[in-house]
Amino acid sequence: PIVPVILSGGSGTRLWPMSRPECPKQMLALTAEETMLQLTARRATGERFAAPIVVANARHADMIDEQLDAVEAGAQAVILEPMGRNTAPAIALAAIAAGGGPAPLLIMPSDHVIADVDAFHAAIHAAMPLVAEGWLVTFGIAPDAPETGYGWIQVGEEIAKGVHKVARFVEKPPLDKAEAMLAAGDHAWNGGIFLFRADMYLDALASFAPDMLVAAQQSMDKARHDGNRVYPDADAFAASPADSIDYAVMEKAARVAVVPVAMGWSDLGSWDALYALSADVDGHAHAGHDGGEVVAIDTTNCLVRSDGVRIAIVGVQDLIVVASGNDVLILPRGRSQEVKKLIEAMKDT
Ligand code: GDD
Ligand code: MG
Repeated sequence: PIVPVILSGGSGTRLWPMSRPECPKQMLALTAEETMLQLTARRATGERFAAPIVVANARHADMIDEQLDAVEAGAQAVILEPMGRNTAPAIALAAIAAGGGPAPLLIMPSDHVIADVDAFHAAIHAAMPLVAEGWLVTFGIAPDAPETGYGWIQVGEEIAKGVHKVARFVEKPPLDKAEAMLAAGDHAWNGGIFLFRADMYLDALASFAPDMLVAAQQSMDKARHDGNRVYPDADAFAASPADSIDYAVMEKAARVAVVPVAMGWSDLGSWDALYALSADVDGHAHAGHDGGEVVAIDTTNCLVRSDGVRIAIVGVQDLIVVASGNDVLILPRGRSQEVKKLIEAMKDT
């Protein structure tokens, strides 16, 4: 079976104030009754999948267990990183925990929306023969904007039905390059979801990031185990360079393939992204599952959410208003990337 590997180490700062270090966005119910983590885990259940391996920050261990148990997707292992070293080492820990052999790993970020799960499963199915042959497979999303925060893939020749060779992988290009790739028409966004054999990934690290492989291996050799929890050795893991799978492996490896797939994919990176997903016909987006009451009159194209205090709003357009605990965020639509700046500014006060 395929081993789902759920990466849950990010902090989701741009979704402040609901997303906070103690409860980052993947542990919130942002798009549905279930949390992003629960939706991610449930997306890879059924006959073809083993129980997931989760790689996360130690402070979230209890929350992860509770949330996964609640949807009957309990983890076979929860690997608790002593510190964040970005995705390439995190995936190495999971590959080692999965035995380091030919087991196929499905690497999934815990904070994405996939509306069409059947299309996702069909793409996985299409990729499996090449995965078995040792290819590193990624999933390609049709781009509709010159995004500089994503990886871009130049889609090459078709090597199996629905599967293409990656001609070039460019992580987080500058704007002019992103614009050129969008205009070229033969590029896809990297969806950030990967499928490959554990041994093939570890081989790639041996070639392109040997220090990382050694650090991951040593930290797992000396790991402490407690039930399904795995605590890699902190000193050994600290010695790992920090890098993402995209820069460390995907840009460099030779046998990389992409399955272009239309599956209603969205990276829920910001409040504007959530607005785009949840706006109803009138342009309102008042999510019902946050717990707080929203009373809105004559408001259009607004995202208004509260998990506690009541928000009463009248006669405004194009606003994002989010209340959580003692904090209220207000900004015009289109500027939600600037939440990062606010967080910096609040650090100084
Ligand atoms: N366990 C663990 N440890 N997880 C981590 C760590 C870490 O140190 N760092 C990040 N993650 C998790 C995040 O929570 C997220 O679910 C996932 O790994 C991807 O990390 P991001 O930091 O969100 O990556 P990105 O958005 O900059 O870029 C990636 O995703 C894009 C699509 O959303 C890349 O793969 C891009 O190429 C891709 O286009
Ligand atoms: Mg991301």
